[in-house]
Amino acid sequence: MEESLKNTLIRFLDYLKEGLIVIDKNKNIRYMNDYAKKLLNVENPEGKLFSEVVKDNYLYSLISADIKKELKEEIAIDGDIFLATVLNINGNRVIHFQDITPFELYKQAKKDFVSNVSHELKTPITVLKGVVETVEQEEDPAVIKTFLQKAKNRIKQMDSLIDDLLILAKLEAKEEKIQKKKVRLKGLINQVFEDLHHIASEKGVKLINEVSPGFTVYVDEKKFLILLKNLIENAIKYNRQNGTVKINASKKDGKVEISVEDTGIGIPKEALPLIFERFYRVDKSRSRSVGGTGLGLSIVKHIAEAHKGKVEVDSKVGKGSKFTVEIPSD
Ligand SMILES: Nc1ncnc2c1ncn2[C@@H]1O[C@H](COP(=O)(O)OP(=O)(O)O)[C@@H](O)[C@H]1O
Ligand SMILES: [Mg+2]
Repeated sequence: MEESLKNTLIRFLDYLKEGLIVIDKNKNIRYMNDYAKKLLNVENPEGKLFSEVVKDNYLYSLISADIKKELKEEIAIDGDIFLATVLNINGNRVIHFQDITPFELYKQAKKDFVSNVSHELKTPITVLKGVVETVEQEEDPAVIKTFLQKAKNRIKQMDSLIDDLLILAKLEAKEEKIQKKKVRLKGLINQVFEDLHHIASEKGVKLINEVSPGFTVYVDEKKFLILLKNLIENAIKYNRQNGTVKINASKKDGKVEISVEDTGIGIPKEALPLIFERFYRVDKSRSRSVGGTGLGLSIVKHIAEAHKGKVEVDSKVGKGSKFTVEIPSD
């Protein structure tokens, strides 16, 4: 091959975001591209024995392994996952590394997601089965009525899970465009208060809308209603008996801040980074008794981000939580 073409190829190999190592049959390093050097933290390795330069037993076993055509292995280096391909070419051994960490994380998340959804659907179905079997044999109308009420609650639970999954899937696929328009925030909040009035009054929770009547936001009305509903519903559900939920809004430096503050149970510090994850619930058994899918806050986060905004939380266990949504004011 022509010298200048060789140089071009070598420069290209240094440009790659994948690692390449060539070792001869005496296990001396003939070549390492920049990525491999950085990954294994070595300088000027050419001509040196592999075992002298690279202190990784697993990699050493890869270069010594008996291979026929090729060998593919997943290996961990500094907490990241690489797919290593080992080939014999012209009496040399070539090792190629590709960082597959994002793909592995994605695979794991997908697996967790499927098992979570299955679990969340399986539980109400088990209850429904039990209800049907009982009602089949029961004659007392009062007992039948209580069991049917149980069935209704579980159907509602499955229904809202599916609704939440559908919204989340659409948001994640960025399928739906955000259609912003100017709306009065106070009206949106009152609409949500009306929707949630029954669960608030059951708990004696007072809903306070402190947003001034003229305050406007530039949002996708339908999606923003979903965001507000999830935050306010949580503020009621995880509140104490006769607590309060207060909504405030302010504008500053081209940004709107909307806060939902409650007097509830609060969230432990170590759980704060996790609550926006799909299906995460702080106290599974307690959360189950108040109902919910564990998807609400990830929907909130997605809607805030779709508006080029963010959501933050400040909370004290036993005192209450304050969720703040920040979005551009136009
Ligand atoms: N205002 C709040 N006060 C206390 N805990 C909260 C509050 N909002 C959310 N959480 C916690 O975060 C978890 C996740 O919330 P979310 O995604 O809305 O799911 P869900 O309400 O369906 O459980 C809840 O299960 C609860 O443990
Ligand atoms: Mg919720």
